[in-house]
Amino acid sequence: MAEFEHSIRCTITNRSDYPIDFVWENAQDMEHIGFLHRNTNFDFSIVDLEPDLSNKFLYQSLSYLVKRKMLGFLPLNTFGHRKIISKYELWQVEYCPFLGISTFLRSTLKANSKNPDHTDMIDYVEIFTPSIYKYFGPIFTWSLKRHARKQCLEDEPFRMRRKELYDRNLNIPPSILQKTIWEKVTNNYLAHKKQENLDT
Ligand SMILES: [Fe+2]
Repeated sequence: MAEFEHSIRCTITNRSDYPIDFVWENAQDMEHIGFLHRNTNFDFSIVDLEPDLSNKFLYQSLSYLVKRKMLGFLPLNTFGHRKIISKYELWQVEYCPFLGISTFLRSTLKANSKNPDHTDMIDYVEIFTPSIYKYFGPIFTWSLKRHARKQCLEDEPFRMRRKELYDRNLNIPPSILQKTIWEKVTNNYLAHKKQENLDT
């Protein structure tokens, strides 16, 4: 990070009423952002992903574009990259060119100590902003906490449904549904190459 940038750290904790494996499945899945989290996002697309060859996780790493809905209406395009570090832990970096803000996130899950069937979601966040925003730290922190709380509440029906299906022995493994931007670009490129070969 450039020296002129200002850094803000915060920890965001949310709770789910569902067991950790349902929360973990939901945490890995990002495609639902564009559907389930329409209050805080306009759109989501995967740029490219690295599959997990061990088949333990939905992917190993993933880059994405998401159009955030700031303050409920303002579209902010952000570019992000995330890696699954281990079971129940994701690391992620996002950059918003319009604001010049980067966000580093270490997202962890733990079974709740009092009720192990519930899950604590603990996010360690560091926000890097141009120094011009250095007095706006509390607003960024408030906005991030609000965003995380809203998404957590919206995710609860998703986890409830997955648990219901699991309890009925319908445990369909999650999968990536959309074609990545990289696949689309590659297909276009290959089609052009094929046409060029036919023309010569
Ligand atoms: Fe979600």
